[in-house]
Amino acid sequence: MTVTASETTTDTRVQAIFTDVLDSLLGIIRKHQVTWEEYRVATEWLTQAGNQGYEIPLMLDVFLSTTVDDVNFAAQGGTECNVEGPFYVPDAQLLERPYVLPQREAEPGEHLVFSGTVRSTDGSALAGALVDVWQASAAGEYSNIHPTVPEGNLRGRMTTDASGRFDFETIVPPPYAIPDGGATAQLLKALGRHLIRPGHIHFKVSHPACRALTTQIYFEGDPFIDSDVVGAVKDSLVIGLVRNGEAETRCSYDFVLTPNDKL
Ligand SMILES: [Fe+2]
Repeated sequence: MTVTASETTTDTRVQAIFTDVLDSLLGIIRKHQVTWEEYRVATEWLTQAGNQGYEIPLMLDVFLSTTVDDVNFAAQGGTECNVEGPFYVPDAQLLERPYVLPQREAEPGEHLVFSGTVRSTDGSALAGALVDVWQASAAGEYSNIHPTVPEGNLRGRMTTDASGRFDFETIVPPPYAIPDGGATAQLLKALGRHLIRPGHIHFKVSHPACRALTTQIYFEGDPFIDSDVVGAVKDSLVIGLVRNGEAETRCSYDFVLTPNDKL
């Protein structure tokens, strides 16, 4: 196929961004006097990553996604957003009250009652807001992703009541490692970094009058809270677990959404 100059169209956004990416990379090669051998190792490593299924999206998530979040959602008010991650599944079970995330009989893990509210930035309660929740099992595995966990396990959607309140039962999620053995893990190890994310619960909170929020909630005292492999933890999203002996563990978080007319 012959391509003539008249058949090409310039995407100025691609041109502007790629020119900067290329300038940065060329600057790095000059700064570090990259050798032919190192260049070939990098080429092979990227080829390997491309042949390893989800390694390239995983790598982008680990190194870049938090900053994409920051530049897209800065200064718009409401609860801070946080990366969605690769394990979201739409259309999880719509739960009936009292809300309990679907789980196996005797689901391993510390029982947890999570309660909270959904409000607008003006302070008004958002009744009927949809709270979509997903999290890992006590073994650090997600349903619909890891074959050992039944489909839909620890995933569910619920709505807030007339006062904007919700609460649900689940388990305390543990820290877990991102996939080992691929190009991303190989690079992290060469950088002297571990592969672990602190325990967290993922949320998507939405209401027709507001901008939808995707975020994660973390827990004080988690040994990996200051060294998340994805670097996603934000202080405003870290909450305490309140333990009443062996009997009960509770936590709460109040989500704040930005009204559409404030965007
Ligand atoms: Fe996660």
